Amino acid sequence: EPKQRDLATLLRRRLPADSVQLLELLGNSGDEQGVAVHAVGGFVRDLLLDLPNLDLDITIEGDGIFFAETFGEQHGCRVRPHQAFGTAVVVFPDGRKLDVASTRLEYYDSPGVLPTVERASLRHDLYRRDFTINTLALCLNHDRFGVLLDFFGGQKDLQDKTVRVLHNLSFVEDPTRAFRAIRFEQRLSFQLDPHTEGLLRSAVRAGLVERVGGKRLMGELIQILKEQEPTLAVKRMAQLGLLPCIHTGLRFGPDSEQLFAELERVLAWYQLLYLETPLEPWTVWFLALMDRLDSPQYLEVCQRLMMPERLMERIFGHRHKALKRLQHLRQALGRGQEISNSQLYTLLHGMPLELLLYGLARSGQDELRRLVSHYLTRLAEVKSLVSGTELQDLGVPRGPAIRTMKERLLSARLDGLIASKDEELELARQLIVEQL
Ligand code: CTP
Repeated sequence: EPKQRDLATLLRRRLPADSVQLLELLGNSGDEQGVAVHAVGGFVRDLLLDLPNLDLDITIEGDGIFFAETFGEQHGCRVRPHQAFGTAVVVFPDGRKLDVASTRLEYYDSPGVLPTVERASLRHDLYRRDFTINTLALCLNHDRFGVLLDFFGGQKDLQDKTVRVLHNLSFVEDPTRAFRAIRFEQRLSFQLDPHTEGLLRSAVRAGLVERVGGKRLMGELIQILKEQEPTLAVKRMAQLGLLPCIHTGLRFGPDSEQLFAELERVLAWYQLLYLETPLEPWTVWFLALMDRLDSPQYLEVCQRLMMPERLMERIFGHRHKALKRLQHLRQALGRGQEISNSQLYTLLHGMPLELLLYGLARSGQDELRRLVSHYLTRLAEVKSLVSGTELQDLGVPRGPAIRTMKERLLSARLDGLIASKDEELELARQLIVEQL
């Protein structure tokens, strides 16, 4: 028998009103269709920890796809079913999403859905999950709204801050759980239960984690690097022997520690610039993680992780060039050399932002950071005001000459030699005369 607890009051206090309303609507639909509806997994875990979590997963005791389609029709949602898994994603008009799963179908002796049979089947479903803290289920049907079902001691482990598998074969069934264990442990400031840690280490020793496919491995790594502060998780990966499962050349030594700490500062600094350029911080962390690898090893990692070509090209293809340019700037600064806006622009323009930030963290030099911030906030978006057609009208021949002319005008603008469009046109005339 599972431990039960009534969370109706708690959830009304902790969740926003529209979330509570959604839970009630789902419960009502369940009542109409005669099926039990439970919120499960991370949503319930985070509700108990009082952490915000808008990703709702529900489990239907019966046909989840039918439930999703009926619910979707009633509430104007789009529904994407996955027949093979018996799951569906419900997309609300405002973009919010809801994942619906079905418990495994079982045969019942009686046609009605008796509570005991119901729970037996839900229990079975939850037993296949990764950790006890993710096995809690919250009933949404009206008569039992807010009743928490705890089959495997999830509440106690939440209290004790413990990440624990449900059975000894958990990592064998799914070795990616090694990464998930670390992710939850570090995100929540929990501890792996010692027996669970032993099982994890055995799975690594047996080469199970090493054999995880590239795409899945990449997915897990990205999720870890997307955490608020990935440093501790990466360190833990090193400690538990997971880094060599990605590439044998990967380490997390004292120099990595320093680089990661510096990168944390750089990313915090970057946020304070409030730029609109989209940035995916995980890619910068990834670069830092790969820092010690040489080019052939780099390529091996990308292949191992089946990294999409575009991403590889965008970030990793330009690594050398970007680092060289930043190095150049650093040396110039070291010599006390003045660097003009146009020089700075020419060096940094077109460089992927991720590489710029990674390079900054690597250099650890405040002066360089000041220059880059000047570039990002003042120079990166500056454009010449004169169009190509206008230059043609002035007599510049079509083709590369237009581009060269525009570059010279832009340089003059960046260095503050001209400001208005008239001045720019005037300078263009002068340059044309000089060239004749
Ligand atoms: N799950 C699992 N084994 C995996 C992946 C997922 O058992 N390899 C289970 C977990 O119990 C989890 C649920 O599937 O609670 C949903 O997975 P996911 O959305 O990845 O987990 P969340 O707990 O919601 O994690 P997060 O807070 O990071 O979204």
